[in-house]
Amino acid sequence: MILRKLVGMKPIIADEAAIAEAVILLRQGGLVAFPTETVYGLGADASNPEAVKRIFRAKGRPADHPLIVHIGDVASLADWALTIPESARRLAARFWPGPLTLILKKKPEVSFVVTGGQDTVGLRIPDNPVALRLLRAFGGGIAAPSANRFKRISPTRASHVADELEGLVDMILDGGPCQVGVESTIVDLSGPRPTLLRPGQISRLQIERVLGMELSLISPSDITVPGDVRAPGMMKIHYAPVTPALLCSGERLPDILRDMTAQDLKIGLLLYRKRNTIVDRPGIRVIRMPAQAEAYAQALYAALRELDGAQLDKILIEQPPETEEWRAINDRLGKAAVPFQ
Ligand code: TXA
Ligand code: MG
Repeated sequence: MILRKLVGMKPIIADEAAIAEAVILLRQGGLVAFPTETVYGLGADASNPEAVKRIFRAKGRPADHPLIVHIGDVASLADWALTIPESARRLAARFWPGPLTLILKKKPEVSFVVTGGQDTVGLRIPDNPVALRLLRAFGGGIAAPSANRFKRISPTRASHVADELEGLVDMILDGGPCQVGVESTIVDLSGPRPTLLRPGQISRLQIERVLGMELSLISPSDITVPGDVRAPGMMKIHYAPVTPALLCSGERLPDILRDMTAQDLKIGLLLYRKRNTIVDRPGIRVIRMPAQAEAYAQALYAALRELDGAQLDKILIEQPPETEEWRAINDRLGKAAVPFQ
């Protein structure tokens, strides 16, 4: 029996008592949402397939989309990974705790429910004090995807989780806003060559420096097997607001805006830096984003959620620079919005 059946539940400040309760819930097969440095996760005991199935049900996520197992220390890698290649040891030593997920061959005892039927498992140690205290008090692995409904925007605050999964989780631990704001970088070390499956704050270059070799890149066209969802983050529309969102260059923005407001459309505008040419006027809701990539990433999902909740007809997103520093952000924007044609 689950300790609490919470409907209309509020996030709980993640103090020692709340963490102790979260551990009990996890041991009972419950679902606990918790902060990580990237986004909030929806956690269950990774060694309990019935508990893990509840994650899929709460999210509305297809059963073949694998989950990441969060662990509290590097020694626990051996509980999940069949073999730990030298490359994994090096990346773990350099970047853990941190926003990097490693895909390794799984041990036979790791449930296919967690891995979505794959013979590999995704692992990471998150760099967030609440997540680390929870993991260490729990003592096992916590399977956790981002704590949002399938295909929706990842939550970066406890209130986002409550808005989206109210009544579907047993507890929401509130650890404040997430520091990084976009999901972890994912590197697959289970094949012949290390491959970047998802860009994140830890850049391709940082990883290549540690590995001393280039990463292979996987692009959507590489997914040839129907239903091959090794990185479902690669589906074209993912992490998306409900309001139709368009991505356009700063140069074209004033013209597009003029046309849209002429049609009486209510517009949400995500500007990537201060622009003097665009003034706030009725019918346009403006959010000015930070000019630095790290600060932009941190603010991105909250900004998209705010615009999405404002009953607008369209969200217009100004394209930030397309440099390496902005890769993870552009990847997520490309999934939340379509380019303006
Ligand atoms: O930052 C993050 O990674 C957050 C926090 C909560 O840790 N988690 C997260 O989980 O973004 P999720 O489920 O939303 O995305 C996990 C990604 C998916 O694209 C999934 O396909 C990939 O990790 N993944 C997990 N296990 C995998 C595996 N064995 N092989 C390939 N991809 C895997
Ligand atoms: Mg997700």
